[in-house]
Amino acid sequence: MENVKLPKVPPAYQLVAFESLDSTNEQARRMAAEGAPDGTIVWAKSQTAGRGRRGRSWISQPGNLFCSFILRPDASVSDAAQLSFAAALSVVEALRYTVTPGIVLDVACKWPNDVLVGGKKVAGILLECQAQAPHGVTVPQLDWLVLGIGVNISHHPEETEYPAASIGVSTGTTVEGMLEALAMSFDHWLGVWKTQGFTPLRNAWLANAKGIGDPVIARLGQETLNGIFVGMNEEGALVLETEGNQRHITAADIFFPETS
Ligand code: BTN
Repeated sequence: MENVKLPKVPPAYQLVAFESLDSTNEQARRMAAEGAPDGTIVWAKSQTAGRGRRGRSWISQPGNLFCSFILRPDASVSDAAQLSFAAALSVVEALRYTVTPGIVLDVACKWPNDVLVGGKKVAGILLECQAQAPHGVTVPQLDWLVLGIGVNISHHPEETEYPAASIGVSTGTTVEGMLEALAMSFDHWLGVWKTQGFTPLRNAWLANAKGIGDPVIARLGQETLNGIFVGMNEEGALVLETEGNQRHITAADIFFPETS
């Protein structure tokens, strides 16, 4: 984008801005494959092929935030996946402390990586990566990770399986302000993760999670489980108690009975 004042991001990040892209995740993947450095943030005002988790599309008209962080941590794929919780926490903090000072928002994390306001989804996160497992190495090491973040500010889709909402421009929230606050908070949590590991992130995520101890419905690929949401384990899996057993679930959509 030309002749526009770009949002400010912390010194370790480089913001690359576009009017429109197919998908910021797709662009970030292309740039990562061409060697874009750790800390590159790809931002677009709209997307023509925004994508969500599990093959869903992500409605991407101007007025909402669409961005993707390219990261190259020295970590295994499974450890690096923990950064999706750092992204969710950063959205929560950006909403709670920076974007809307003076306005009390009911913000919560929903497993795995959604952010809710007033019980409705306002943000989603899509993590994609490339890794190498050279011959003789059992734990794949990461080449790059792309953390895509979408935040509904001006609008949200109506016909979604899980109810969606937007923060609303009347709260004073702007796309640029949200991006600045998000990058600042993410930088903090990335530093915590690099120096102290997943435990502090997990604790902060649990302190903000919706529905711990409550009944939950988990939709896995072919299977639907009803149980109690016990928490999240040290690997980021959902812990579900069902018929006296604890199951650790790594991929699912979850619903709270009152909203399903
Ligand atoms: C979800 O299904 O909840 C994840 C949605 C992730 C959407 C964001 S918008 C920016 C980035 N680019 C994409 O194409 N997807 C992510």
